Amino acid sequence: LADALYWDTLDPYHYVRLQPLSTDEVLVIIGGEDHKAGEADDGEQRFAVLEHWARERLPDLGAITHRWSGQVLEPIDFVGFIGRSPDEEHVFIVSGDSGQGITNGLVAGILIADLITSGSNAWEDVYSPARKIYKNLGEYISENITPLKNFAEYLSASEIASVEGLRSGEGCLVRSGLQKVAACRDQKGQLHLHSASCTHLGCVVHWNSLEQCWDCPCHGSQFAPDGTALNGPAVSPLAELEKPAHHQAAE
Ligand code: FES
Repeated sequence: LADALYWDTLDPYHYVRLQPLSTDEVLVIIGGEDHKAGEADDGEQRFAVLEHWARERLPDLGAITHRWSGQVLEPIDFVGFIGRSPDEEHVFIVSGDSGQGITNGLVAGILIADLITSGSNAWEDVYSPARKIYKNLGEYISENITPLKNFAEYLSASEIASVEGLRSGEGCLVRSGLQKVAACRDQKGQLHLHSASCTHLGCVVHWNSLEQCWDCPCHGSQFAPDGTALNGPAVSPLAELEKPAHHQAAE
């Protein structure tokens, strides 16, 4: 396999790159099978599809040594936001790299330096964080419907009859009156009960069994089983809820 960064145009897409380990050992990094944050909890299945996809194309692959999952922020027109922060004259931002941070970092180094030193750059409109995005309107609408659909979940039924039935590594949503409870049992067997209301703008979080955390489908925040905010835009932890006495006794 020639040393390059490859990616396809399937949806979800795949990518491959090489990482030399020593003079005669090379790791192949294979990624993709993405889904929108908080909208799927089928990580094992996605790894299996990814492996199948890779082995079909690279029959000499050895054993899998590492597996992980992470988040990528993607503007709906897939072009990074690089330039003057909207409404702020002396603040410049680089964001929405869609997994192409090295390339966009180089663009940012040229573009922002020009904006500071000479006040303009030929690419500034393309990357402007204040640009209006008219392409991909369907995606724009569907992104904005996510919070609406999500708020309806406050009224949906519990996913489990009793949180006592949760096994280590499992999480589920339970309804308590008008409140939605994020219940999970961590890998050490401890039960955690938190408000399922994301501390960014209040969407209902969903359990991610692969990464063992709560994901927010609205803007991608993630929270640890103990409620700690792991990934923004939320910065505050999920609100802890009182555990009934028999839960405490069970621990
Ligand atoms: S409401 Fe959860 S990330 Fe925005």
